[in-house]
Amino acid sequence: MLAIGSPVPGLTVRPIRPDDKAQLAAGLALLSEASIYRRFLAPKPRFTTTELRYLTEVDGLDHAALVAVDRTGALVAVGRYVRSQTDPESAEVAVVVADHLQGRGVGTWLGLQLADRARAAGILHFTAIMLPDNTAALRLLTRISAHLRTSYHDGVRELIADLAA
Ligand SMILES: CC(C)(COP(=O)(O)OP(=O)(O)OC[C@H]1O[C@@H](n2cnc3c(N)ncnc32)[C@H](O)[C@@H]1OP(=O)(O)O)[C@@H](O)C(=O)NCCC(=O)NCCS
Repeated sequence: MLAIGSPVPGLTVRPIRPDDKAQLAAGLALLSEASIYRRFLAPKPRFTTTELRYLTEVDGLDHAALVAVDRTGALVAVGRYVRSQTDPESAEVAVVVADHLQGRGVGTWLGLQLADRARAAGILHFTAIMLPDNTAALRLLTRISAHLRTSYHDGVRELIADLAA
């Protein structure tokens, strides 16, 4: 798929870097409690040093993350996949967009580019776990793949999106 332009003027996308730790922590601090809960399925007041290292020092193949950056250099969205250790053709995906930019196409923009990278890395399926009422996340996955399988476990919805279709 061809790279598509940002749906919001002034945003650029790039892979996450080790020197994004402070910006990533700042982005979490600005997220609403609701968005944090939808992303992590738990409260997340801050990242530990170990978590920041894990989230920013990625190999781009088994663990890849794309960030959207605004004109000030702030990270305003993150899309990430982590390859399964038991099924190398599968990876768990998660996307989060700053509250003030949600609903403007940024999540879809990032998600489609992440899916392209995953395909190039030999990943055939994205899995995603979300609250059952998270319509935006469901629609985003629908934009990434027309072939979704849904199941429910312990109060959450699990989606498997076929990237090959
Ligand atoms: C889920 C999330 C990443 C989607 O990103 P986004 O930039 O807001 O979404 P987009 O603008 O690209 O819209 C994606 C789809 O969701 C729909 N949508 C967006 N916000 C919505 C809302 N509040 N309610 C219902 N649908 C919504 C859009 O209409 C679009 O559907 P369409 O393509 O059929 O028109 C973002 O809302 C977010 O960060 N939420 C909190 C964290 C989270 O839930 N992460 C998902 C974990 S898997």
